Amino acid sequence: DKKIIIAIDGFSSTGKSTLAKELAKHLGYVYVDTGAMYRAVAYFAMQNGYIGKEFFDIESLVNSLPYIKLVFQFNPDLGFSEMYLNETNVEQEIRTLEVSNFVSKVAEIPEVRSKLVEQQQEMGKSKGIVMDGRDIGTVVFPEAELKIFMNASAHTRAQRRFKELKEKGDTVSSFEDVLKNIEERDYIDTHREDSPLLKAKDALEFDNSNISKQEQFEKVLKLIVI
Ligand code: C5P
Repeated sequence: DKKIIIAIDGFSSTGKSTLAKELAKHLGYVYVDTGAMYRAVAYFAMQNGYIGKEFFDIESLVNSLPYIKLVFQFNPDLGFSEMYLNETNVEQEIRTLEVSNFVSKVAEIPEVRSKLVEQQQEMGKSKGIVMDGRDIGTVVFPEAELKIFMNASAHTRAQRRFKELKEKGDTVSSFEDVLKNIEERDYIDTHREDSPLLKAKDALEFDNSNISKQEQFEKVLKLIVI
């Protein structure tokens, strides 16, 4: 039974995690949401007062990296894994717009990236994994057997994200706030020096502005020859 690595990269809120979760479930693979890891580090920086609206103490964050322990723990009731930061479940906390506003600045730091990339490569050692993020096909697993690059218009993505936040009970963020955050993250993620978001040469690109989740899932499934 040959197991492969599936790398899914792309802009924010393009439905990477929905697709990745469905593929993992269908194939009996492990799903890893690398954005959750960057979000957990950003949350840690916020909790410790290292990052805020007008300041960022990069040095203190970098010095604290050895004390940041990230673990994905499978929750059988939900059918997927949740993010634990130093033994605490932070799955809810890391999904707020506040964390989204800081995460790309944290993800620019090379020391943060190398720590997380190392852990991600370790998780993929025995293959049978679907990983989503920004640099999976380019940096984490350049040898992945299947690489997908997802895109959709910023407006479509902001609509999806806004709906999700409302469903989670966010009553303060406006559609404009969400759109602005998406555009800012797109900019930082594509312009940073270390591992910028870009499509790997051998990645297959999908624009899902106009196709349903189901159509997309079926299209991708056809690409998997194991
Ligand atoms: O995937 P998600 O939108 O949750 O990721 C949050 C942020 O984490 C991204 O905007 C990006 O700045 C960063 N990230 C990254 N590399 C990854 C995954 C996420 O830089 N592999």
